[in-house]
Amino acid sequence: MKNNIDGFSKLTKEKKIDWIAATYFSEPEKATQLIKSYWNADAKLQQLHDDFIENTITNFYLPLGIAPNFLINGKYYTVPMAIEESSVVAAAAKSAKYWSERGGFKATVFNTEKIGQVHFMFNGNPEKLKTFFTEIKSKFFKDTEATTANMQKRGGGIVDIILVDKTAALENYYQLHATFQTKDSMGANFINSCLEQFAKTLKREAVAHAEFSSAEKDIEVIMSILSNYVQNCIVRVEVSCPIADLAEKNITNPREFAEKMLTAIRIAEVEPYRAVTHNKGIMNGIDAVVLATGNDFRAVEAGVHAYASKDGQYTSLSHAKIENDTFSYWMEVPLALGTVGGLTSLHPMVKLALEMLEKPSAQELMQIVAATGLAQNFAALRSLTTTGIQEGHMKMHLGNIINQFEATPQERTIIEQHFDTNAVSHAAVVTFIENLRK
Ligand code: MEV
Repeated sequence: MKNNIDGFSKLTKEKKIDWIAATYFSEPEKATQLIKSYWNADAKLQQLHDDFIENTITNFYLPLGIAPNFLINGKYYTVPMAIEESSVVAAAAKSAKYWSERGGFKATVFNTEKIGQVHFMFNGNPEKLKTFFTEIKSKFFKDTEATTANMQKRGGGIVDIILVDKTAALENYYQLHATFQTKDSMGANFINSCLEQFAKTLKREAVAHAEFSSAEKDIEVIMSILSNYVQNCIVRVEVSCPIADLAEKNITNPREFAEKMLTAIRIAEVEPYRAVTHNKGIMNGIDAVVLATGNDFRAVEAGVHAYASKDGQYTSLSHAKIENDTFSYWMEVPLALGTVGGLTSLHPMVKLALEMLEKPSAQELMQIVAATGLAQNFAALRSLTTTGIQEGHMKMHLGNIINQFEATPQERTIIEQHFDTNAVSHAAVVTFIENLRK
C-alpha cells in the first residue's frame, strides 16, 4: 500500500479515515473504530470542531483540571487548566492555597502594546525614503480606516508607525514598525489586516512619488506580519510575606527555606541549562491556562522565551529577594492574550473556562495566567529544594499506571494502600499489579 496521496484534503472525513486506516493499521476496522469513538455524539458540536482546522478526522482530548483558591489582587479565581502532565494542577492548587493564606498574588499590567512589521527592500537614498515616509504616514491611517473603525470604538487601534532602517544588518532592508492596542482581543487578524494594507499603501505611494528614481519606486515588500515578541505587553506578578510566615507543615525552618529558594532562583538566573527547565515549570502553569482559555500558546511560548533572553543570555523569568525579613518573589512576563474573538467565542469549553473566570478582560487574564505560572514555579522550587519532585510526581504517576492496567476498584485500593508506604516506580507498580493478579 502506498503511503502518499494526492487530493487528501478533498476527500470526505469518512474517506480520509478509510485511507489512514487501510494505509497504516494492520487492523483497519479497529483503528477506524477508535478514531470514531472520539467523535462527539452531538453532530453539530462535532462539525464545529471539524471546522476549526483542516483535514480533521477526530478530536484529541486533553484533561481540563481546576485549580481553585487563586487570590489575585484581592479577588478569588478558580483557574481552568488544560494539560496532560500529572502533578501540575495539584501543584498550582497547592501554591494558590498557600499564598492565599499569605496575602495572595499582586499583579499589575504594565502595558498591552502589540507589534507588527512590514519588511521591505528599498534600493535607494535613505534620506529620500525618510522624507517620503513622513509625507505619506497619514495615508497608512486613512487607508486602514475601514479595518480600524470598530477597534477604535473599543478604545484600541494603531498607536504609531515608524520607519526603521535595518540596512546595517541587511542590505536594502527597512521596516514599517507599527504598534497597536487591541483591547480584549489578541488582535492577530486585526494587526495582519492593517499591515497588509500598509504594504499596499507603501507600494502605491512609492510608484506615485515624483522624487523617487525608478529603482526607488520599485519597493519590494517581503512580508507583513505581527511579531510575537511583545516586550511591551507585560504583566508583573508578585507574592511576599514575612519570612516567619513561610512556615507550614513541611517548612519547619522558614529562613532556611527562603534562602534555599533564593539560591535556587539565583542558579536559574545565571545558568541557562537550569533556566530553561525552571521556565518550563512556569510554562506548565501559563500554557495550561492559555490553552483552556482558547489563546495561542505557541505565540506565548515564543514571546516568553525571547523575553527570557532579552539581555543576551537565557535566564530565569522569576526572581526573589529577602529584605527586612520579608521574602518577595516575582516575575514579569510578556503575554499577548485575548478574551474576545477567535476561539474564545467558538469553542464551548473555552467559553466555559472564561465564564468560570467571570469573563475577565484581557488584562485580567494576563494577571491570572501570570499568577498561575508563578504558583507553578513556586511549587516546583519548593519540591525541588525540599523533598525532590519525584515523591509527589510518582504518586500522581501511580494513578496513571493504575488506569493503564484498567485496575478494578478493589485492585486500586490495594495498590494505593501498598504504595502509600512503598516507593513508586513504574517497574515496582507493574510488578505489584502482576503479582496481585497471579
Ligand atoms: C516539570 O514539568 C517541571 C519542573 O522540571 C520545573 C523545574 O524544574 O523547576 C519540575
